[in-house]
Amino acid sequence: MPSRELYPHQWSWDSAFIAFGLRHVAPERARRELVTLFSAQWRDGRVPHILFNPDTPPEAYFPGPGFWRAGRTSGLIQPPVHARAVWATHRADPDGSAAEAFLGTLYPRLVAWHRYLTRHRDLGGRGLVSIVHPWESGMDNSPAWDAPLSRVTPEAATSFTRRDLDHGEAADRPSDEDYGRYVRLAAEYRDCGYSDARWPEVSDGFSVEDPGVNALLADAELALAEIADALALPSAAAAHRESAARIAKTLVDTLWDDAAGFFFARDVHADVLGDKHTCAGLIPLVLPDLPVAPALLATAAGPRFALGRVRGVPSYDLTAADFDPARYWRGPSWFNVGWLVHRGLVRHGEVALARRLGADLVALAGQTGFAEYTDPFTGTGHGTRSFGWTAALTLDLLSGPAQEALVA
Ligand code: GLC
Repeated sequence: MPSRELYPHQWSWDSAFIAFGLRHVAPERARRELVTLFSAQWRDGRVPHILFNPDTPPEAYFPGPGFWRAGRTSGLIQPPVHARAVWATHRADPDGSAAEAFLGTLYPRLVAWHRYLTRHRDLGGRGLVSIVHPWESGMDNSPAWDAPLSRVTPEAATSFTRRDLDHGEAADRPSDEDYGRYVRLAAEYRDCGYSDARWPEVSDGFSVEDPGVNALLADAELALAEIADALALPSAAAAHRESAARIAKTLVDTLWDDAAGFFFARDVHADVLGDKHTCAGLIPLVLPDLPVAPALLATAAGPRFALGRVRGVPSYDLTAADFDPARYWRGPSWFNVGWLVHRGLVRHGEVALARRLGADLVALAGQTGFAEYTDPFTGTGHGTRSFGWTAALTLDLLSGPAQEALVA
């Protein structure tokens, strides 16, 4: 549960981040976190973005199970960080993992999950995964979705009740108009039976290739290769490595803008590459063999993200006119992104900067009562408190050597 008040169910990528932390203090709980999530995997392989807690009252969260009409889950996805979490969780306690056949149980499920993404979600036909809703990026309110979302007619704010505003400041949360667009899109996807084949015909269609999601899939394929090696499946391991290399190459070939020195999201529906510098464009730093890493690191250190000179990693371009230090994914620093960028810095040899960022994230978490996100200039906490992944990733950062071993 990311938060008892604001998010009282199980969320897909939150569970993976939570496992990264729990593995140090309670590895059996880290394993249970991931096994429980995968118990909700759909027959087509998708891992749903929310697994609803049957004991939580229906009015506690919107959109709840009644909206999705998909049993005990939603029908959307979140970024595929799970294979990396499974591998890290295994390595934290190999004996406990072996006793539960943890890798053997989850490997086929992870393969099915990645197969869903590569087979059903290549809506642009270029070999990258498309998301069909902003929530699928995990960066729900990112300015990168403004242009594709502008085609979507918002559902009237009177036709649903926002529960997020019961627990969060309105100025920290998405606007009613954007929320109406999220609801409309989710209902359209639901009403076409969560069918990715039918999705492009749906009038308001939102299909976007996000650099964060695709980089995390390439990284997850590398983790699957390690899992396959541990299970003595060498040819499967080789296939996962090839798939990772293919995704990483396509990412650079199609979403990298050389002049900007940055990765942007592509609006598949309109066939245009975006121009918003959001933190999703920094996520490919987790990948090894990234030829554009020096240029991307230069952008990260430049005025748009000011890495090392502000608190955490801003979610949006500090120089943009619509930068907002408090509003949900439109400026504030999030801990999971900071943690991923920290890994990327270690990966590309920027160890001093990584240590500074890691220490800053730990300090911020403590100062803000484990806030959901923070102001990049002042470090003030925003959103909910006692937030799951903020706490879990702090544990992981405090075990520095384990963190650095992740990329060894
Ligand atoms: C918000 C975040 C998303 C997260 C969820 C639960 O919707 O944008 O990334 O998974 O909350 O914490």
